Amino acid sequence: MDYIVEVSGVKKSFKDVHAVKGVDLAIKPGEFVGLLGPNGAGKTTLVEMIEGLQLPDEGVIKVAGKTWKTNQTELHKLIGLSLQETKFVDRLTVFETTQLFASFYNLGTNRVNEVIELVELQEKKKAYVNNLSGGQRQRLAMGIALLNKPLILLLDEPTTGLDPHARRGIWTLLKNLKDEKNTSLILTTHYMDEAEFLCDRIIIMDQGNILADNTLENLLHTYDSARNLDELFINMTGRHLYD
Ligand SMILES: Nc1ncnc2c1ncn2[C@@H]1O[C@H](COP(=O)(O)OP(=O)(O)O)[C@@H](O)[C@H]1O
Ligand SMILES: [Mg+2]
Repeated sequence: MDYIVEVSGVKKSFKDVHAVKGVDLAIKPGEFVGLLGPNGAGKTTLVEMIEGLQLPDEGVIKVAGKTWKTNQTELHKLIGLSLQETKFVDRLTVFETTQLFASFYNLGTNRVNEVIELVELQEKKKAYVNNLSGGQRQRLAMGIALLNKPLILLLDEPTTGLDPHARRGIWTLLKNLKDEKNTSLILTTHYMDEAEFLCDRIIIMDQGNILADNTLENLLHTYDSARNLDELFINMTGRHLYD
């Protein structure tokens, strides 16, 4: 398999809002890709189409060489995802929540415990999810996304609103996952340092289009005067990447 994700000519509109205007991208197995862009750039819409949660108006999306239309069951097994806002059932514990999702994949208690350890929530196993901190909730969401050992993980702003310590905790988990080389990642983020730390490649979106797609080094090289991604974005658009 050359690419785990292939997106070609994908467009999506909501009435007269052209959220995604014709996007092409391809992601290799094991590759970690950061998706950046201002609010409204179309990141979530693009990610949700790759996840099979939204249907493109035009274009083709393939995951592991297959389209969603005729391969849903199979593709759900390959994908791990956490949405921009994760909601849990407050009256379930960390263990019960993980077990519930594990049951969807026919996974037993061994895997549940393994994942709880992986995301370092052992001490919170019996805690109700409404008593978790923001960072702990995000780690739980990531654990659930990883239950089925997905080939591709899609995380939509997993660290937005977290304090620096909690963000670092997520980074460590993702870095470990990267070192194992079994999983590809698409990560949307507002934090440039996060994309720089975790990602092999950075894609910058604006107003439904991809403006740039390259390694950080190459991106900054192309625009000699840009010292970081924000300066690069200003050079390309005259606007800041994030306010
Ligand atoms: N379900 C929807 N209905 C109407 N407009 C939408 C919907 N989802 C997204 N949009 C619009 O599409 C554009 C892209 O949104 P989104 O993909 O959420 O961007 P991002 O994640 O980069 O902030 C925005 O203008 C947003 O308001
Ligand atoms: Mg979004």
